Amino acid sequence: MNLKEDASYDLILIGSPNHFGKHVGSVKKFINKLPNSQIKANKYAVFDTYILADFEKAVKKMEEQINEVMPDLAKASSGLSIKVEGKGTSKGPIASEDLPKCKEFGIELAQ
Ligand SMILES: Cc1cc2nc3c(=O)[nH]c(=O)nc-3n(C[C@H](O)[C@H](O)[C@H](O)COP(=O)(O)O)c2cc1C
Repeated sequence: MNLKEDASYDLILIGSPNHFGKHVGSVKKFINKLPNSQIKANKYAVFDTYILADFEKAVKKMEEQINEVMPDLAKASSGLSIKVEGKGTSKGPIASEDLPKCKEFGIELAQ
């Protein structure tokens, strides 16, 4: 998404890998810049990916940050935290047991 574009969206979906229990710096910067951009959105939702025991840590931090910088932006759905296979810094794939909730999340957001 280009922060310089003048566009309106029904929904903005923001995702980040969990790095050290948080969303990554580039996503943090993106969220901070959104209120002063030309982008207009009706709702938002977030997701993260994680490997260890950090279920929902990054989604909660993203939601807190969005709530701080854009308190009037409505949440379309609770954030989704997605487990990926592997150890340490693996790129995945998504753990098979988490695939159904990804599908449900997509369906909920599309409605
Ligand atoms: C620098 C770094 C720090 C990470 N820290 C954590 C962590 O604290 N907890 C965790 O569950 N996963 C951690 N991970 C694993 C990432 O969450 C995982 O690799 C990522 O979600 C996979 O998505 P990606 O392919 O988009 O990077 C870390 C990965 C990297 C590269």
